[in-house]
Amino acid sequence: MTMAETNHFPLGARLSVASLSKDPYPQLLELQHQEPISWIAELNMYYVLRHSDVEYILKDAEHFITGTESSLVYDTFGEHMMTVEGKQHQRYKGKVRKPFMPKFIRENIETEITCLVDSLIDGFQNKGQIELRSAFASRIPVQTMLQLFGLPQQDEKYLRCWYNDFERALANFQWDEAIRSKAKTSVEEFHQHLQQSIGHLREHPNASLLSSLANAPEAERLTDEEIRHNALIIFFGGISTVEALILNALYALSTHADVFERVRKDLSLLPKVLEETVRWAAPVQSATRHVVKDCEYGGVKFKKGDTVNCMLNAANRDPEVFSDANRFDIDRPDLRRHIGFATGGHSCLGSHLARAEARIALERLITRLPNCRMDPGRASAPEGYEFRQPLSLQLIWNH
Ligand code: HEM
Repeated sequence: MTMAETNHFPLGARLSVASLSKDPYPQLLELQHQEPISWIAELNMYYVLRHSDVEYILKDAEHFITGTESSLVYDTFGEHMMTVEGKQHQRYKGKVRKPFMPKFIRENIETEITCLVDSLIDGFQNKGQIELRSAFASRIPVQTMLQLFGLPQQDEKYLRCWYNDFERALANFQWDEAIRSKAKTSVEEFHQHLQQSIGHLREHPNASLLSSLANAPEAERLTDEEIRHNALIIFFGGISTVEALILNALYALSTHADVFERVRKDLSLLPKVLEETVRWAAPVQSATRHVVKDCEYGGVKFKKGDTVNCMLNAANRDPEVFSDANRFDIDRPDLRRHIGFATGGHSCLGSHLARAEARIALERLITRLPNCRMDPGRASAPEGYEFRQPLSLQLIWNH
C-alpha cells in the first residue's frame, strides 16, 4: 500500500492494536463509523467493521477465501475444512457434520456433558469459592472433545498443552518464528497421537466421531491424513471458544444482577443469555480472509494477496442492526442476528455443541452452587486480541 492510499485511512493508520486487547469497542466503533473498511497500517491488513459488509465478504468465496500461504490457520495446520472452498470444503464438512446437529447432541451427547460437568463441580462444591477458568471452564471443552473423538480422558493433559501452542500460533499476527515452530512440533505430536488412536479404533470401534470416520466404508472414507487434519481443526475450534462462552456469560450475568436474578428463577432463559453473550462479548473477535482475485467492494480496491479481517466484534455492535448495541440485553428481538459464529460456507461447525456445553455448565453451576456469582472484589473482564475471555474468574457462592 502506498503512502497516498494510506492517507485514505487516517484512523486505521493510527490504530493502536495493543490497546484492542483490553477494550476493542471504543476504537473499533469509531472506525466503523468513520472508516467502515479501513487499512490497519500496524497489521498490514484491512479491517471490515460493518455487519452488512462482514456478511457480504464472508459469503463471497469467489474473491475472499480462508486458506492461502499467508493464512495463519493454513500455516499452522495445513489443509482441512477451514482452508479449502467449494466441493472439497463440502466433502470435509459433510463427513463430520452429523454429531454437531442439535438433535444428535440432545440425544447422544448432552447426558455425557452433564456427567463431566457434575463431576468437576463435585470437586469444589464444598469450597465456597473457586477460580473457575482453571478448575472448570477450561476443562469441560477438552473433556467433551475427548468424549466426542472417543479418546481416553487421561489424554486431557497432552491436549491442553498442544492446544496452548496452537492458540498462540493462530493469534501470531506478527509471524514470530519461535511461536510458529513450537506450534508445528505440537501439530506433529498431535498427528502421531491421533494416528495411533485411529489404528486402535479400527480394531476396537466405538460410537465416537473418530471411530465412525476411521471405519467408514472405504469408497467414502477420508484418508487418514484428511481425518487427522480435520480432527485437528475441530479440536482447535472447540476449546477456548467454549471456555470463553462460559466465562463471558458468567461475567455478563454477574455484572447485570437484575438479569442474573431472572435467570436463577428461570433457567430456560439461558439460551438467550448465551446468544447475547456471543454478540456482546464475542469469544472470537474476527474471521480472516485473503483476496484471491482483484476486486472492488465498498469503494475499496482489493488486490490479490491482501488480507481482510472481518471484525465480528464490531459487526455485532453495529447500530444499524442492534439498537443500543453496547447494552447487554437478553430481551432484544434481534438476538440471533449476531455473527459471532461467522456466516457463509465456513460458519461455525460446532455452534450447537458450544451452546449445549455452555448451557449445561451454567445450569449445573447455578443449580448446585447457591447464589453463585463472580466475586465483585476480584472482578475480571474479558480480554485478548483474537480470543477474548477473563484471564481468571473467581466464583463465590453460599455454602
Ligand atoms: C462459543 C463458541 C464458538 C465460537 C464463538 C466459534 C466461532 C467460530 C467462527 C467465528 C468461525 C468461522 C471462522 C472463519 O470463518 O474464519 C468458526 C468456524 C469453525 N468452528 Fe467454531 N466457534 C465456537 C465453538 C466451536 C466448537 C465447539 C467447535 C467444534 C467442536 C467449533 C469448530 C469449528 C470449525 C471446525 C470451524 C470451521 C468451519 C468451516 O471451515 O467450515 N467451533 N467458529
